[in-house]
Amino acid sequence: MVFGPKWMTLLSFLALAGLFSQVEGYGGYDIPYNITVEVPTRLRIDEGIAPDSELRQRHNAYRVYLAAEPPGWGLGPMCWLVYAVRLDTQNITVTVPADVVPDGTRAHISTGLILRDNRDRVNGFSYTSSTTILGGNGTWSQRELDGWEIGSQDELSCRAFACARECEDTYNTGNDGSINRRADACVRKCARDLNPSNGAGSRHITDNAFISALFMAMTVVMFYS
Ligand SMILES: *[C@@H]1O[C@H](CO)[C@@H](O)[C@H](O)[C@H]1NC(C)=O
Ligand SMILES: *[C@@H]1O[C@H](CO)[C@@H](O)[C@H](O)[C@H]1NC(C)=O
Ligand SMILES: *[C@@H]1O[C@H](CO)[C@@H](O)[C@H](O)[C@H]1NC(C)=O
Repeated sequence: MVFGPKWMTLLSFLALAGLFSQVEGYGGYDIPYNITVEVPTRLRIDEGIAPDSELRQRHNAYRVYLAAEPPGWGLGPMCWLVYAVRLDTQNITVTVPADVVPDGTRAHISTGLILRDNRDRVNGFSYTSSTTILGGNGTWSQRELDGWEIGSQDELSCRAFACARECEDTYNTGNDGSINRRADACVRKCARDLNPSNGAGSRHITDNAFISALFMAMTVVMFYS
């Protein structure tokens, strides 16, 4: 399909409308002041998507991450705590592994809406207010202190994070952006071996493929117009 200028205008408008409805759709979070490692902890996460929201055509689930700031660097999701939660589920339980962050780390829970047609990706991140992780025994790797991310937050569960961190410190000692195949392979093995089994292997959801394709087209149009 080739989009003429009128189509572009219409699609850009629809894409913008989608973005605004997403902002309006913001719900709310209720997380404890402290979260103790290895203790199942209940959170309330309301993605706030209206029953008739267009977002439901592109997303039917969200992912829950642990987000923190390595010393001297910005906040970002590090690893997933729950791979996929249905959009309307608000009552969820997470367990933060002991070896992800040091004791007393200020952290946030982060969420992102999962794309129906590409379960590995989310449409952006929202963050809760901060919480303190108690009892952790993780240590920041040199790689993180140098400002690099460890693996991908959509591939690595928090259970696999410490293992992946060790890969980076073992194989990726050069302080540059070059891709290190041994480090990458090692990180992928950590994810394969340690991610909870109900995680990344979950089924592809292929309904509404046309709507998803349309949304991707809109995104392309937005970036290039
Ligand atoms: C959170 O943990 C800190 C440090 O252990 C403690 O002083 C504080 O009372 C805790 N707050 C709550 C609300 O549990
Ligand atoms: C949340 O889930 C837990 C167990 O999964 C249950 O015990 C609790 O009653 C639920 N709370 C609400 C408000 O639904
Ligand atoms: C961190 O704590 C966990 C859980 O208590 C324990 O299994 C693990 O061996 C500890 N790791 C280190 C490096 O102390």
